[in-house]
Amino acid sequence: MLQETVPNLAKFVEPDRVRREVYTDPSIFEMEMERIHERLWIYCGHETQVPKAGDYYTVQIGRQPMLMVRGKDGTINVLYNRCPHRGSMMCGDRSGNAGEFFRCSYHSWTFHHDGTLKNIPMMESGYAGTRWGRDNPDCNMKRAARVENYRGFVFASLAADGPSLLEFLGRSKVAFDDICDRSPEGKVEVVPNCFRVIQRSNWKIFLENQLDALHPSVTHQSTGRAAREVELQIEKKTGKIPLSYHMLSAFATVTIEKWDNFQTLNYPGGHCILTGYMGLRPQDPDTLEYERVLAKAYGEKRKEAILTTNIHHVLIYPGLSVQSPLQQLRAVRPLGVDKTLTEIWHFRLKGAPEPIYRRALAYYNLVNSPATLINADDLENFWKAQQGLSSEGGDWVSFHRHHGRDIEKDGMVETAKDCGTSEAPMRNQMKAWTQYMTAGQ
Ligand code: FES
Ligand SMILES: [Fe+2]
Repeated sequence: MLQETVPNLAKFVEPDRVRREVYTDPSIFEMEMERIHERLWIYCGHETQVPKAGDYYTVQIGRQPMLMVRGKDGTINVLYNRCPHRGSMMCGDRSGNAGEFFRCSYHSWTFHHDGTLKNIPMMESGYAGTRWGRDNPDCNMKRAARVENYRGFVFASLAADGPSLLEFLGRSKVAFDDICDRSPEGKVEVVPNCFRVIQRSNWKIFLENQLDALHPSVTHQSTGRAAREVELQIEKKTGKIPLSYHMLSAFATVTIEKWDNFQTLNYPGGHCILTGYMGLRPQDPDTLEYERVLAKAYGEKRKEAILTTNIHHVLIYPGLSVQSPLQQLRAVRPLGVDKTLTEIWHFRLKGAPEPIYRRALAYYNLVNSPATLINADDLENFWKAQQGLSSEGGDWVSFHRHHGRDIEKDGMVETAKDCGTSEAPMRNQMKAWTQYMTAGQ
C-alpha cells in the first residue's frame, strides 16, 4: 500500500541533493522503519547492562518495543516486549530483573528468559480441545530474528536474512576495536545509566550532523569562546589549563578553516569515520601512568598503535554514533517523522586508572549531556531544520559542498585533501538510504 502512495522513491534523492519530504512525510517514515530500522542490525545495548540472569533492558528497534535479557545460561536474548496471550507489554519498566522467569502482570502466563512458554495458569483445564497449547510456537514470546554480539556490544536484526553483523559493520567495526583496545584488559563496562534526549526532528538530521565538520565552529562558537575565556583566566592564576575546558574551548580554537584539514572516510552502507581533531593525548602524569599500564598489557609497539588510532567519531548507519577515544556512544531511536530519541551512554575502560575514566565522564557531561550548551546548540539547529523543511520555502536540501571532489578507492569514498567540511558523509548516507529503500523494487 505504501508503495502505491510513495511511487518511485529514488526520485527523492539525487547524488548532491535530497527532497524535503524525505524528512517530513509520515509515509516515507513508515517505509524507513520497515525497510531500514526493522531490517538492519540495530544496537541494543552493552552486555554489561545485563550482568545477571534475568536482568533486562528495554530497547526500541524501529517501531518495535523490545527486551534485551540475560538467560540462565549466560546467553543474551532479544525478545519482543509483548505477551502472546492478549498482547500486553511484558515489562513496563525500562530495566530490571525478571527473576527466575517473566510473569505477565495481566493473567500470569510465565516465560523463560529465552521467551519460551513456561506455564499458563490451569492450562490443562482451560485449553483442552483448543488450538492453543504448549506445542504451539505462538505461545512463546517472539524473538528478534537475529542477535549478535561484537566485543560486548549487542545488536539485533528483525529480518531473518541479510549479512552477518561483521559483514554489515565492515570497516566501521573499528569503533568497537578502538573503544575496547584502549582498555588494558581489552574490555569496557557500561556506566549506568544513560542520558535520554528527545528531539523534535527527523532521525536523519541527527545522523547527518554527527559528521558535519562545517557546523562546530559556527554552531558551538559562543560556547567555545566562553570556555576559552575561563580557561585563560585559570591559566593566568594557576599556570595550567584543565583538560576539561579544552574539550569545550576547542570549538572556538579549531576554526572553520582548520576543519578542512580533517577527513571523512565514507563506507558502503552509510557508515562513516571522522578522523581525530582534538589533542587527547596530553603528557600529564595521569596520561603517562595510563600509557605505562597499557604498555605493560600490550607491549610498547601495540600500545603506540592503539593510542595513535586516528578517529574522532564513527557513524554506524542507521542509528549509532560512537566516539571511541572517549568511550561514549549515542544510539538513535526514531519515534516519529519529526521525533527522535537519543540515548547517550559512556563506558569505563576495564583496568585503566580512574583519572582516565574521569576524563571520559568530563567529556560526557560537558559535550554530550543534555545539560551542556553544546547539546543545546545542536538541538536548536535540529528543531529549526525540521521547521524549515516543513515549510514550502523550497523543495531541496543541498549536499553540494565539495561534490565531485570525492576520491573513490578500495570500495569507499575519501574526502580529498583540505575538504574535511565536505558533505560527502550526507551524500553517502543518502546513497545507502536509497539502496535500502528501493531494494527488491
Ligand atoms: S495478556 Fe499476558 S497473561 Fe494475559
Ligand atoms: Fe554539534
